[in-house]
Amino acid sequence: MSHFTPPQARGAWQRLQALSGEGAPHLRELRSTPTLPLIEAAGLTLDSQRQRLTPRAWQLLLALATESGVPEQTRAMFAGEPINATERRAVLHVALRGADWADAPWGADISAQVRAERERFLTFAEDVRAGLRGFTGGPITDIVNVGIGGSDLGPRMACEALGHLSGTRLKVHFASNPDAWSLHSVLRHLQPANTLFIVQSKTFTTQETLALAESAYRWLADGGCPADQLHLHLAAVTANPERARAQGHTDERIFGFWDWVGGRYSVWSAIGLPLAISVGAPAFREFLAGAHAMDQHFLQAPPEQNLPLRLALTGIWNRNFLGARNLLVANYSARLREFTRFIQQMDMESNGKRTHVDGSEVMVGTGPVIWGGLGMDGQHAYFQLLHQGMHTVPVEFIGLRRENLPFPYADEHHAVTNSNLLAQATALAYGRNHEETLQEMLADGVDRAEAERLAPHRAHPGNVPSHILWMDTLTPRTLGALVAAYEHKVFCQAAIWGIHAYDQWGVELGKKLAKAIQTGGAA
Ligand code: F6P
Repeated sequence: MSHFTPPQARGAWQRLQALSGEGAPHLRELRSTPTLPLIEAAGLTLDSQRQRLTPRAWQLLLALATESGVPEQTRAMFAGEPINATERRAVLHVALRGADWADAPWGADISAQVRAERERFLTFAEDVRAGLRGFTGGPITDIVNVGIGGSDLGPRMACEALGHLSGTRLKVHFASNPDAWSLHSVLRHLQPANTLFIVQSKTFTTQETLALAESAYRWLADGGCPADQLHLHLAAVTANPERARAQGHTDERIFGFWDWVGGRYSVWSAIGLPLAISVGAPAFREFLAGAHAMDQHFLQAPPEQNLPLRLALTGIWNRNFLGARNLLVANYSARLREFTRFIQQMDMESNGKRTHVDGSEVMVGTGPVIWGGLGMDGQHAYFQLLHQGMHTVPVEFIGLRRENLPFPYADEHHAVTNSNLLAQATALAYGRNHEETLQEMLADGVDRAEAERLAPHRAHPGNVPSHILWMDTLTPRTLGALVAAYEHKVFCQAAIWGIHAYDQWGVELGKKLAKAIQTGGAA
């Protein structure tokens, strides 16, 4: 490895530190001349006018990206170099949606493998939609996805976001936790004769998933399914087909992917099968196409107009120079209700690290705590703390410019939703100072003594940075682009912090101890 310089030793980082030490201006001062213009890419628009940084800070952040080798690291990822060095693996989720790209930098062999497996699982998805039969000859009506982490959150999120496009009566369910309720709550409404399980596990060694799968096999058998017909009710998705075979899965129903696809980056592979079943192969291809469009934007747009890079750099500014340890992802479409949980794994499992790529100790803040959910629900729950609490919590608002649901009142609902999104972003950024609060109350007829008593309680400091990430509307294509934008954001931040985004050693100790406890050892 070439000599590694930790972030805090880089010139641009030090200049940013000096600049932030002088104090960043209040967002009110930046209101009339926002530093960052809109970026439009792949059906998304990023509005950064409420980011708390000056043109000078932005230039230094761009310099930091260059000095940190973001362009070189990007090239290395797309070329299939083993950038996941602790696992000695390439990182090529981009190939899963770029397999039709003639000049793909990862090479024709990989594209051919991806295309072959993609066609297999999309054909199967269409077969399921056309109507499979179970052991009694009755139709398969319900699909149960069994998997956890990346083998659950991506397809779950995407099915929730796009399920309205289904056009079939098939229902897709998810079970991820090994506690009895997780599976029982799904199965108590289903019939073995009409149920297909998709067992999803990259490794096929994840104990939680294997426990769920074992109960699923038993439930089918107890429901009368003969052993030689079990395969009619099963499919498996894995990068470890031998283990799936050993569990009784048959080759025609085992769909593969590769060790160069991280679990949390795998929704584009056969792990997306529940989505493909739910929305059909053409819509799934659109989902891939949207992500590929974002990949191309990421590769080609200049740094100052690069959407994922901007998300990454403003995130680093907020995290490392304004001291924000949290990031709230607030979604203003109920169809995106699972999006924050999905991003939480993608970001926190990737960038929750404390060791640099050269093995040295990290001395700066890395990945923030990601939390949130539906913004509107949050407004009536935890937004109070954002407005007046003692934490600075930057926000990424995600909204739809246009609602595309065929509901007669959709436009009115959409207007209420977006006015709230904009109101929250504005209130958080610019606040309402003591004097303005006082004057408003007096104008509303509150008597002066009461207005003066209440003004300190009702004033808002503002100065909370936020982005608004608008999707033109919610389609497979824009959802693909949105997810890819976040993937590249996480990648760029890791490249700057000098950490490995694609391993997850921190989850191993707990797994090992759980096994030891189960076999009678001490924790
Ligand atoms: O324990 C963490 C993890 O390894 C995640 O990275 C992964 O998405 C999840 O478990 C599930 O793993 P698998 O798909 O191998 O069952």
